[in-house]
Amino acid sequence: MRLDKFVSSSANLTRRDAARAIAKGRVTVGGDTVRDGALKVAEDAEVALDGVTLTFSRYIYLMMNKPSGYITATEDARPGERVVSELLPPETARRVFPVGRLDRDTTGLLLFTDDGASAHRAISPKHHVEKTYRFTCTPPLTEEMRGALAVGVDIGERDGKGEAVLTAPAVIDGDTITITEGKFHQIKRMFHAVGSEITSLCRVRFAGIELDTTLAPGEWRYLTPEEINLFTGGGNA
Ligand code: URA
Repeated sequence: MRLDKFVSSSANLTRRDAARAIAKGRVTVGGDTVRDGALKVAEDAEVALDGVTLTFSRYIYLMMNKPSGYITATEDARPGERVVSELLPPETARRVFPVGRLDRDTTGLLLFTDDGASAHRAISPKHHVEKTYRFTCTPPLTEEMRGALAVGVDIGERDGKGEAVLTAPAVIDGDTITITEGKFHQIKRMFHAVGSEITSLCRVRFAGIELDTTLAPGEWRYLTPEEINLFTGGGNA
């Protein structure tokens, strides 16, 4: 591929900014400065920008610490509604989509990517990907409520014969709950079913990736290579 394409995708620069960086002599290939953006390079070429090695990736992956008050949508927002994609630079927001949804008042780990296959796997009920949320609720959970949530509760889902389909077993550990499903308002409905109401919900882990607690609400960063591996299963990046 062309060097300017390699640099723009792996450093997430626009093609024009990548071409400028190359023309200014900020890019090396195999240790030599190259000023020609049209140069053909292999996907595994040793390319560096300002001395920092770039790894070619077909896709981009990032995490956001979602703030409360924002909806998880790309374009179906009503006028005046704040949308998580507004918190990303416009050129990044145009490229990626959120992996699953969090309610407007839910905070915490939200992934974005343009890797449709891995995103689909992460949210598909078939793959039982774990999501962990820290919660507060009122009234506090009793041992009996914890036991019921752990086994599975009736949140109003019905099968073809009208029989109740209970939620899959959840793991409750202190003030966190881990589920493998992702039904609409699932945790709120689960707590409601046992006689408690969620008063705050923050996703702290998804697909083995932990929320980076150094990110303030609304901040984001690219995933590390290890996190990308967890998300893609080592397949796509
Ligand atoms: N469960 C909920 O009820 N809301 C969320 O945002 C996520 C899980």
